[in-house]
Amino acid sequence: MFNLNNLLRENIKRLVPYSSARDEFKGEAKIFLDANENSFGSPLTKWYNRYPDPLQIKVKEKLSSIKNVPIQNIFLGNGSDECIDILIRAFCEPGRDTILLCPPTYGMYEVSANINDAVVKKVSLTPAFQLDLPAIEEAIDDHIKMIFLCSPNNPTGNSLNREDIEMILNNYFGIVVIDEAYINFSRQRSFLQELKDYPNLVVMQTLSKAWGLAALRIGMAFASEDIVHVMNKIKPPYNINQASQELALQALEEVEQVNEMIKEIVKERTSLQNALLQIPYVQKIYPTDANFLLVKMINAREIYESLLEKEIVVRDRSKVELCEDCLRITVGTPSENNILVKALIDRSIINH
Ligand SMILES: Cc1ncc(COP(=O)(O)O)c(C=O)c1O
Repeated sequence: MFNLNNLLRENIKRLVPYSSARDEFKGEAKIFLDANENSFGSPLTKWYNRYPDPLQIKVKEKLSSIKNVPIQNIFLGNGSDECIDILIRAFCEPGRDTILLCPPTYGMYEVSANINDAVVKKVSLTPAFQLDLPAIEEAIDDHIKMIFLCSPNNPTGNSLNREDIEMILNNYFGIVVIDEAYINFSRQRSFLQELKDYPNLVVMQTLSKAWGLAALRIGMAFASEDIVHVMNKIKPPYNINQASQELALQALEEVEQVNEMIKEIVKERTSLQNALLQIPYVQKIYPTDANFLLVKMINAREIYESLLEKEIVVRDRSKVELCEDCLRITVGTPSENNILVKALIDRSIINH
């Protein structure tokens, strides 16, 4: 059975977290002389001379109502990348404990594991980019503290079968992280409402994709109160800066505008797909639930370079396992997509 205490690193269990000035006094007061801030102000018109709320309560309150998840089940990181790092640091004893990945998938899981000297075990996705459940079952041993599942997956774009994820949740009692960075572009249901049923589940989402706020660096981890408590213990005290908190709050008022953008992107995704399929050297476009397409082409690397010459940058994934000869193309605006398609068509005329 799942037991958080058995999974946590000993030093993290014992850790006394840093207690900031704002942790020690949370109320309103006339004069704040407790944090060695600049009491005279700042060169900016706003009060950026004060440290931000370490627990980002206002942002979490807003997210709680949008996501229908209680505030105590929300952790905010400096991008999801910080959530990944903190999870690995909380659970993986360096040099010994292991995370399980299913490549091809998002690269930061492995990089974060390497930084923290966690062992990485890999079970590749099937050729249909789905979980290989028998191989995962065989790979699991006592050192595997955490499984990272990315759905919709980057760079393949597809969602993992829900029943397969449920199979893992019902049979594996380490931490299961489901990275839903691209969930807003998908018709699949999020696992957020399943948090109540699985104390070992962590769902990650981000404001960097559908919300269009990559520059603010706000990632979300939704999990049990106990896991969120551990993550808060580890994080740097003021990991989300004041400007990001303010701007995120402002943006979170605009759910309808974001939903409109999502609809536009999904519509544009289909148009781009159709246009690319007309190009002779495009061999396949994989089904996608994300805001990008994985496109298999003849001579992908060369095409990548010829696009670069025209100052169009896509992602070359042609050396990635199971993605041989593939480029990953983010859905752009209609005019960006037209320029891309035209560049690809021009190239096919030259080559014939
Ligand atoms: C699957 C996945 N997870 C997480 C991230 C990182 O998100 P953030 O900007 O919140 O760090 C990305 C970014 O590309 C991603 O593709």
